[in-house]
Amino acid sequence: MLEQAIERVVISAEEVARRVRELGAQISSDYRNGGKKDPRQRPLLVVGILKGAMPFMADLIRAMDIPLEYDFMAVSSYGNGTSPGEVRILKDLDCAIGRRDVLVVEDIVDTGHTLQHILAGLSARGPASLRVCTLLDKPHRREVDVRVDYVGFVLPENLFVVGYGLDYAELYRNLPFIGVLKPQYIRDG
Ligand code: IMP
Ligand code: MG
Repeated sequence: MLEQAIERVVISAEEVARRVRELGAQISSDYRNGGKKDPRQRPLLVVGILKGAMPFMADLIRAMDIPLEYDFMAVSSYGNGTSPGEVRILKDLDCAIGRRDVLVVEDIVDTGHTLQHILAGLSARGPASLRVCTLLDKPHRREVDVRVDYVGFVLPENLFVVGYGLDYAELYRNLPFIGVLKPQYIRDG
């Protein structure tokens, strides 16, 4: 079983679900009450960052009761978060974002390099507004200053977690909760 690799559950499926509902309600209310800046009033565009944000985004959009469209980007970060990694775009958006309201959905912001690169690329296209929602945040690990508008949970800097989209070597993304791996499941751990 997949769960036998888990030492400790950090955030249960129920806690995740409750927080995602709160975020969905808050974001919906914010965009209803003046958050939308698009001169043409097109629906909010939610941009999920593959692969990690997929489960979170799937739940978050269903907790939002405003009109929205969604699209995806895929990026790869080299340097595994400990060195300022080069960030490469593997899949770009299908749609244009000029003068649109854009909400980027991330799984986790660690050093901030990945998000900074994504935001620089997107803001160069002239969106009407650009905000970020991340499920998890490790603010103490930040190496570059990036603005995050909505945070699900703050994690201690020394915690490496898997589940609910977060992977270790591409595994464990399908766990319904967020947890820490047993040391024997981490190479050179
Ligand atoms: P950043 O560029 O350092 O902010 O790195 C963000 C990326 O690092 C995330 O998209 C994840 O792929 C990875 N990452 C950082 N911390 C964790 C963690 O605790 N678990 C799983 N992946 C993580
Ligand atoms: Mg990853």
